[in-house]
Amino acid sequence: MITLRPARPDEAHALSELCMISKAHWGYDDAFMAACREELTITAADFDHSQIQVADDNGALAGMAQLQVEGDKAELDKLYVHPDFIGAGAGRSLFEWALSEARAAGATFMTIDGDPQAAGFYRRMGAIDDGESPSGSIPGRTLPRLRITL
Ligand SMILES: CC(C)(COP(=O)(O)OP(=O)(O)OC[C@H]1O[C@@H](n2cnc3c(N)ncnc32)[C@H](O)[C@@H]1OP(=O)(O)O)[C@@H](O)C(=O)NCCC(=O)NCCS
Repeated sequence: MITLRPARPDEAHALSELCMISKAHWGYDDAFMAACREELTITAADFDHSQIQVADDNGALAGMAQLQVEGDKAELDKLYVHPDFIGAGAGRSLFEWALSEARAAGATFMTIDGDPQAAGFYRRMGAIDDGESPSGSIPGRTLPRLRITL
């Protein structure tokens, strides 16, 4: 059974690998994935300036979400579900956690720079399209930007 809990700093490496495995689910090639590695690496500093929540399946990492809140603005930095658990509701649970935490921290809206193949998921969660953002990993690539009012 999947439950949510805060990530532990000693899980940084395992969470980085989870992000890579999850992203690769869309079929990106090795060069693309190598270019994404730095952006998908969770560091000790991430635990200082953001909240990271894990979807835990009896000790296995099923997914994770990373949230940053600054003033009235929240940013969902990462939301990655392990391919073994995609389609089983972990994404929704982690997204709802982010909404709840962002609201509690005083944010009035949350933005997401989404993978194009995940944009439909965010729309399903109630987000609306809000333009495009440059990819942090691939020069010249743009990502759909989405926004949800809290
Ligand atoms: C996108 C992602 C987080 C969704 O998580 P998930 O656990 O598979 O989603 P859920 O099972 O909670 O689905 C919730 C709802 O969204 C829908 N949905 C899920 N993924 C979708 C997608 N890619 N496009 C459209 N709808 C989607 C589901 O059908 C479900 O709909 P329902 O309310 O009718 O049941 C997951 O597919 C993933 O991690 N993908 C790979 C990495 C990635 O791209 N992450 C996002 C980076 S921005």
